[in-house]
Amino acid sequence: AINYRPFPKDFMWGASTSAYQVEGAAEEDGKALSQQDVINRRPGVADASLASDHYHRFKEDVALMKELGMTSYRFSISWSRVFPQGSGEPNPKGVQFYHDLIDELLANGITPIPTLYHYDMPLALVEKYDGWISRESVKDFAHYARFIINEFKDKVKYWTTINEQSIIVQFWTQKCLIPEKYLDDPQIRYQINHHLNLAHATACKLVHELVPGGMVGAAINTAPIYALTSKPEDALGMLNAVDFRTLFYLDVYFKGEYSKASMIYLEEHNMAPVIEEGDLDLFKEGYSDFLAFNYYSSDCARSAGNATERTEQGVNWTGKKGEIESYETEPDFFQIVRNPACDTTDWDWAIDPVGLEFILRDIYARYGKPLMITENGMGAYDALTDDKKVHDSYRIDYLRAHIQAIQRAMHYGVEVLAYNPWSFMDLLSTSNGYKKRYGFVYVDRDEEGGSCERIKKDSYYWYQKVIATNGADL
Ligand code: BG6
Repeated sequence: AINYRPFPKDFMWGASTSAYQVEGAAEEDGKALSQQDVINRRPGVADASLASDHYHRFKEDVALMKELGMTSYRFSISWSRVFPQGSGEPNPKGVQFYHDLIDELLANGITPIPTLYHYDMPLALVEKYDGWISRESVKDFAHYARFIINEFKDKVKYWTTINEQSIIVQFWTQKCLIPEKYLDDPQIRYQINHHLNLAHATACKLVHELVPGGMVGAAINTAPIYALTSKPEDALGMLNAVDFRTLFYLDVYFKGEYSKASMIYLEEHNMAPVIEEGDLDLFKEGYSDFLAFNYYSSDCARSAGNATERTEQGVNWTGKKGEIESYETEPDFFQIVRNPACDTTDWDWAIDPVGLEFILRDIYARYGKPLMITENGMGAYDALTDDKKVHDSYRIDYLRAHIQAIQRAMHYGVEVLAYNPWSFMDLLSTSNGYKKRYGFVYVDRDEEGGSCERIKKDSYYWYQKVIATNGADL
């Protein structure tokens, strides 16, 4: 058996959250609504007005992070807390909240890793010009990013820009508030993507300009896509799917250009974005220093066969375990299907720790830049026992297998800076309210609300030991 090398001494062990999913206080102290505050207001599903009440309890939460042994914390800054109208003058109380949070982290030896944008475009900008659909958004984002990066340049070294750009494109109507008139126009999502690329590149440039020794990268969602069968046509379908789902984003971050095959496909199908002069130069100037990525599960692809209709994946899948079913088709290019070889979570997401090793090796071989994991975790229906315990052994098994995968990838030379699993505490799921939990810390509430008391799960104590031994005792 191979004796895998131990984790390096400076490896960051952390955990992750995002602003609208934990903070609550959606309309307090000058904060105005974001599009997520609106998208999540559905009957019977928890919304962002309370979330995990982190805005009022961040000191207690940082104390729990410290006790857990965390050395990094990946969170996001709410644009509409800092600029309620999306632009103009900053809201002093909003800015103060992030100073207080970051100061508390630093005082406890925890490296802050903020994300500038986690799905939460200020509602004011959606009302003003349809949010990311308009190129105006790039200017307002630049104003926000310049302010934040400058404000925290002495306290923050690692910056992440846009969370899960590819997911914003894939699930555009859940991640953005899209006016009805655009819903039948698939080109819009690639225009949104182009504006996100400009925003990302702008933020990268700003970090390089303003932060001494600063490092910046996007936080993409990525995963391997395997060929479903050994048929050469399916291998080609896989190649197209990887280009479309992954390289189309990463080539912009690292090479400053769109991957050719996907761009040709978009042009031929009338979905290509409008690109202005100078845009591609900005992509090159706004280079990334690392790639942060979120990893949950993997997919398979095959040839699109004779399919002529585009199909999209829904967010709330109801498929049965092991069933081969198509959930995304780009005619003439590829079809994504479930991986019949992987078991799934309660929520039907494939569990594939080997896929994490695969994608770490693959991305590092392609781009040669350090990698950071900003999310990885298992959404489940956790049960609180009468004596206030949560026995989440399934989550421990999931995380252990993924940490081992990181160790194997690092053994073979991949540079990984940090592991920030999702999530530090239970929070508002993007698709399933409070029923679906990810945290090391249980938050006592349901879809209606609750005390928000914090309770350490079994996985908290297990991760504490993992961190204390720098990954030796898994
Ligand atoms: C990632 C997001 O897509 O996955 C998080 O960055 C999200 O915001 C996480 O919560 C898990 O997804 P979900 O839908 O189970 O909450």
